[in-house]
Amino acid sequence: MLTDYWYIACPSAGLLRRPLAAQVLSHKLVLFRTEDGTPAALEDRCAHRGMPLAGGRVSEGTVQCPYHGWCYDKSGKAVHVPAVPGGRSCLPDASVPAFRCVEQDGYVWVCVGSEPVHERPLSFAHLGEPGWTSFRMYNRFEAPVESCLENFLDCPHATFVHRHWFRTPTEREVRCTVRALDDGAVAEYFDEPREKSAVWALLAPSRAEMQHTDRYIAPSTTRVDYRFAEDKHYIITSSCTPVNERLTDVYTVITFRYKFWGRLVRLFFEPLSRRIIAQDVETLRQQHLNIDRHENRPFRIIEQDVLLPHIRRWRTSLANGRQPETKTDPYDVRIVI
Ligand code: FES
Ligand SMILES: [Fe+2]
Repeated sequence: MLTDYWYIACPSAGLLRRPLAAQVLSHKLVLFRTEDGTPAALEDRCAHRGMPLAGGRVSEGTVQCPYHGWCYDKSGKAVHVPAVPGGRSCLPDASVPAFRCVEQDGYVWVCVGSEPVHERPLSFAHLGEPGWTSFRMYNRFEAPVESCLENFLDCPHATFVHRHWFRTPTEREVRCTVRALDDGAVAEYFDEPREKSAVWALLAPSRAEMQHTDRYIAPSTTRVDYRFAEDKHYIITSSCTPVNERLTDVYTVITFRYKFWGRLVRLFFEPLSRRIIAQDVETLRQQHLNIDRHENRPFRIIEQDVLLPHIRRWRTSLANGRQPETKTDPYDVRIVI
C-alpha cells in the first residue's frame, strides 16, 4: 500500500460547513474545516463509542460527535466532553488518529501514511494560468488504481472503446519512443493518424503538426499532452485516489489553450470528454467483474502495452520502499492504430 503519498480526498467545494466522510486506501476519514478554514482529516470513529464523526457537525473549528457531543480538534484530541463537569482539566485523555491534510488546486489532499514522500501534492499543469481554460471531472471506477492508470495511458484501446469518438482504426503503423524519467516514464508518439473522429474534428481540424506524449507520474497520476502549431495545447491530468483495493476515485483536470476561443471550445470539449471517460468507467467495470469470475488469472503483457510495465515496476518498487532504476536508454515501440 503506497500510503506515504498525497491523494485527493474531495474537491474543496465539497467541504464547507459540515463534516464530510471520505475514504482513502481503505481508511475511513472525516474531513472538516478548522476555524481559519484550513481542512483537517481524522479517523472517522469516535473514541468514546465508535460513532462516525462525519454524521456530526462542526463546532468552533472542531468536529462534534452526534452521539454524546464529544469534540475533536485537528490533532484528533478530544477537547470538549459535554457530560464531564469541571472544564478542560477534567477531560478524559482521549483522541482519534489524525492525518496530514492540505488544500491545493481546488482539492483537499490527505496522506494516510506517517510521513509524505513529497512536501506538497503534485500540481495540475497550467491550472488557473492566464490564457488557459480548464474543467474538471470526477469518476469512480470499480477497478483498482493500477487498472485506471494503465487505461488512461493505453493507446490501442481507443480504437475499440472510443471508436469514432476518439479514434477510428486506420491500421497505420505508429512509432513511439519510451523514456524512463526520475518520477515515472513517458511515451512520445509520432505520425499518429487523426482522421474521422469527433475529438480530432474539434481539437485539430487542420493538418497541423502534433506532439503527443503520455506520461506516468508515480505513484498514481497520468498526464496526456497534445500540442499543436498555432499555440493550441491540451493537457489531461488524472489524479487517482485508491479508495480501497477495488475502487478508485479519479479526479481529472483538463487544461487547454486555444487562442481566443477557449470557452467556446469547452462547450463541446467537456461533454465529449465526459462521454469518453464514461466509456472507460464501464469498460473497467466489466473487465474486473470478469477477472473476479475467473479467479485472477495473470495478464499477458505485450510490447504495445507501452507504459504498463513501467507503471507496474514503479508501483512494486515504491511499495517495497525502493526507487526503481531509471537510467535506462530510450527505446522505440511500433504500434498499429
Ligand atoms: S460515541 Fe461519540 S460522543 Fe459518544
Ligand atoms: Fe479510454
